[in-house]
Parts: sequence; structure tokens; C-alpha cells
Amino acid sequence: MVTLHVSHGRRRAAVLLKLESSNPTGSSKDRTAVGLVRQMHRESPLHPGSVVVESTSGNLGIAMARLLDEIGGRFVAVVDLNTPAESRAAMMRFGAEVVVVGDVDDSGGYLHNRLRLVRQLCADNPEYRWSNQYGNPANPLAHELGTGPELVEQAGRDLDAVYVAVSTGGTLAGISRYLRATRPQVRIVAVDAHGSVAVGGCAGRRLLSGIGASRRSSFLTPSAYDAVVRVTDVRSFAMCRVLAAETGLSVGGSSGSVLSACVSEVFGRPPVRRSPVCLMPDGGDNYLTSFYDDSWLRIKGVLGAVREAERAIRARGLSFAVDRAELGSRVGYLRN
Ligand SMILES: Cc1ncc(COP(=O)(O)O)c(C=O)c1O
Repeated sequence: MVTLHVSHGRRRAAVLLKLESSNPTGSSKDRTAVGLVRQMHRESPLHPGSVVVESTSGNLGIAMARLLDEIGGRFVAVVDLNTPAESRAAMMRFGAEVVVVGDVDDSGGYLHNRLRLVRQLCADNPEYRWSNQYGNPANPLAHELGTGPELVEQAGRDLDAVYVAVSTGGTLAGISRYLRATRPQVRIVAVDAHGSVAVGGCAGRRLLSGIGASRRSSFLTPSAYDAVVRVTDVRSFAMCRVLAAETGLSVGGSSGSVLSACVSEVFGRPPVRRSPVCLMPDGGDNYLTSFYDDSWLRIKGVLGAVREAERAIRARGLSFAVDRAELGSRVGYLRN
């Protein structure tokens, strides 16, 4: 966890960033993957030669591919066109087979088509096993037993709000279960992407990877969170780019959504929170050829909008600083 000093005109706030990029394959999904693999192994032992298939936007796939590789098994990842090229390459380095879904479903996302393909692969190959991150209780349990307690321990007594990105909802559901039981006064904010229906809302096209889903989370009920904040992909990308330019810290797109949601509450009127924690699901390394790259944004038709959003963030007097010594000793992806 590192402290981000945020200024907004003359106002100042300290936001704690829990950098999940410090996990073995660089994201919060390492925790989910360990939970899923252990659960599968308990149900029926995994062994060399076992094949596990899963629908993934990237991070879970990298984490699963690593674990399956370690036990001599094989991982089949069903991804989509929003999955960064870097993530696909990382899965393949761990020996995974990567199948890319190219057709958007009726809700403007890829999830339904990815799941259809997973079911088809399992039907065609009876030896394949589906870890089912969307319904397996081992997903939220990993965060209830791991992420939640760790977050509370690192944040200390002043913790009063957490901001968590949702897709399957497993991370938030697990953290929420732990917090509601042990620190019920902490405000829990679900951060979702515009165009996602993970916690309600209207379906639409999205460029963000990792955050958001084209179907409702099966793990989350409204009592698990106090508020939902939806952030556009343009605003999320702009936030990441401003943060990287000002601090050298590059984070993934969903972390930009989380930071945006947090900052808008912290500097809302009246100020809402004193000691908030942003769970930053992954680092920026896997996005250097996507939203950190102007030509990718141009191809996607959003370069002008992202630049405008960056200008607006700066024009509003928002700026960021981190203690470089604190950051440099913990993460290895400073960009300059
Ligand atoms: C970058 C990123 N952010 C957020 C999430 C959301 O996590 P969850 O599926 O636990 O809701 C994911 C999940 O894949 C992710 O990869």
C-alpha cells in the first residue's frame, strides 16, 4: 500500500493505494486463481495433464496459466478483443492455449459469447474442467480470507472507505463480507464501468478491460455496498495517464476508474472521506500498447476525448504526488 497525495486546488487529501500489481503475476486475480484451483483440487484432484478452461478478460487467465503450468496441467483461456496483447502473450508464456472471441454480444460486451464458447469446449472435450469464476464461491472466499484482512491491517484504524472495481464481483463480495463483519462503519463503494451491468445499469460498448460485465454479478447483493459509482472508459484512461505523467506510477484502466470514483467522493461537497483505500487491481505494464499509446486511442476513436478529459482533470486543479522512495522500493514499473 502506498500513499497518494492528491491536491484539488487548495484542498489536499491522502488516498491509500493498495497495489495488487505486487502479486505474483501482477494482479488481484492471483488470489482468485489460487482459491479456484484449490477448490477444484478438493472436488477432484488436479494432476499433470489436467486441462482447465475459463473465460477471462486477461488477469485471471495469466494467474491460472501460471498455476496450471506449475502442476504440469494446461490452461485454455477464452478471451476477447479487449484483452490486451500483453496479457495474451503472458498467458502463452505459461503454456496456455488462448482462444479469442471476436463477436460482441447483444449487450455490447463479449461475456455471453465467451461463456458460450467455454460451454462448447467442455461439451466437445469431456476431460476439460471449467473453474467458473462467475459462480464458484471460492472466488469471493479468496478475498474474504485474504484481500479483506490484509487491506484492513495495512490501512490501519483510520480506514473509513474502500473503492473496489467490479466484474464478477468476487473481489468486492469477499472484501465486503469481511468488512461488514469486522468494520461495519467502513463505506464500501462498488466502482463499475459505464456500459456494464455487473451491479445494474444499462448495457453498452466498453473499451476498458477487467472492470465491468455484460451480466449481473452472482456474488453481489445491494447490501454488499453503500454506493455504486460508474466511470466512463475515457475518464478512466485519462486518470491513469495523468497519474502516470505526474507520479511515474502506471496502473491499469480499472484502477483509473477506482481512483476517479474515490477522488470525486473525497473532494465532493461536503468532503466525504478522511482515510480512503483504493484497491488497484493491476499495474500499467499490460496496457502500454493500448490506452497509454496515442495511436491505439486514435484507432479506437477516443484520442480527442481522452486528451480533453486529461485537460479537464488538470484544469480542475487536480494533481497527484507519491513519495518516490516509498513507491520505488515496492514496485518495479516506474516509467521514468
Ligand atoms: C483489471 C481488473 N480490474 C477489476 C476486476 C474485477 O474483479 P472481480 O472479477 O473480482 O469483480 C478484474 C477482474 O478480472 C480485473 O482484471
